[in-house]
Amino acid sequence: MHAMAKVTVVGGGAWGTALACVAARREHEVTLWAIEPQVVADVGEQHENVPYLPGVKLPSSIRATSDMRAAVEGAALVVLVPPSAFLRDVATKAAPHVGADAAVVVATKGIEEKSLELMSQVLAEAMPAVGADHLAFLSGPSFAREVAGGLPADVVVASAGATAALRVQPMLHAPLFRVYTSADPVGVQVGGAVKNVIAIAAGACDALGLGTNARAALITRGLAEITRLGVAMGADPLTFLGLAGVGDLVLTCTGELSRNRTLGAKVAQGIDPQAYLASQRSVAEGFTTCAAAWALATKLGVDMPITEQVFHVLHERRPLLEALKLLVTRGFKHELQGIR
Ligand SMILES: NC(=O)c1ccc[n+]([C@@H]2O[C@H](COP(=O)([O-])OP(=O)(O)OC[C@H]3O[C@@H](n4cnc5c(N)ncnc54)[C@H](O)[C@@H]3O)[C@@H](O)[C@H]2O)c1
Repeated sequence: MHAMAKVTVVGGGAWGTALACVAARREHEVTLWAIEPQVVADVGEQHENVPYLPGVKLPSSIRATSDMRAAVEGAALVVLVPPSAFLRDVATKAAPHVGADAAVVVATKGIEEKSLELMSQVLAEAMPAVGADHLAFLSGPSFAREVAGGLPADVVVASAGATAALRVQPMLHAPLFRVYTSADPVGVQVGGAVKNVIAIAAGACDALGLGTNARAALITRGLAEITRLGVAMGADPLTFLGLAGVGDLVLTCTGELSRNRTLGAKVAQGIDPQAYLASQRSVAEGFTTCAAAWALATKLGVDMPITEQVFHVLHERRPLLEALKLLVTRGFKHELQGIR
């Protein structure tokens, strides 16, 4: 077991709150930074994150603040977990306060929309002083509500050469929150980001009543195109057999708590995606990730047919049935085309 440490979680949404619970149960001294005064007050006084995780009782030891300096200064572990659109901003604000020896873990899942950068590239620019041996990426099948509620989950922490991952593992690992390590940060990030796009397709597939065979096909072929993109970006294809690949993809494509799956189902019911998302407080990262992943695939010459159709349906108003027809009428393929 690892000695008690000062752990700071930056980002008071559902997942940041759940990770703060994990660290608090390991008896670390935990601070949660949140941008909203209401979240700070609710977590600090009522021990509940009412806006983002209503009904979940949080450990009373978690302190909350919106003062970045007070939150981050002196922390041995800084976990960054805002939505991908805000990671650059939040990391830039936190950077001057991160100690030279602190480990930084990014738990955000996404691709930055404008730059098409993975979160690791965003961090390299926003926190240039944090070297690769201090920086890791956490991913895997983990609905925040279940983790915060104390149900079992397995995650993976990846870093270059696994150095930082091996440092973080003993700090967060617990029997009900098993932390595996990986030396493939690119693969782990690509898996965690792009599964949200496939989940939108899976939600639509189910809502259209296309059956469980179709959903299994979509998950498997989704994994193939995620792997193709990862390999083109330098990832190890075997990473996609792991928690950040198959694990998270299956969860997001089948789990009722998935916001991205729900978004796909709404679109299949004829609801406008923009209007639906505007009515929700929480982010569905897949909406922006499909545009970024498709742009990246185009740039790198990677075949990503499901991502392509999700992008056109969500952002270019292509009718869902037209997108489906384009998918099923593609030419003959080998299963491992573009992977091996
Ligand atoms: N919810 C989950 O189960 C889950 C699980 C694993 C990973 N993730 C990932 O974690 C990340 C965060 O997701 P979440 O579900 O915790 O988010 P959420 O939708 O629950 O919360 C939104 C968050 O955005 C923050 N925010 C809003 N405007 C901001 C701004 N201008 N600057 C900084 N922060 C701002 C809010 O403070 C809040 O923390 C995402 O990348 C998501 O994909 C989520």
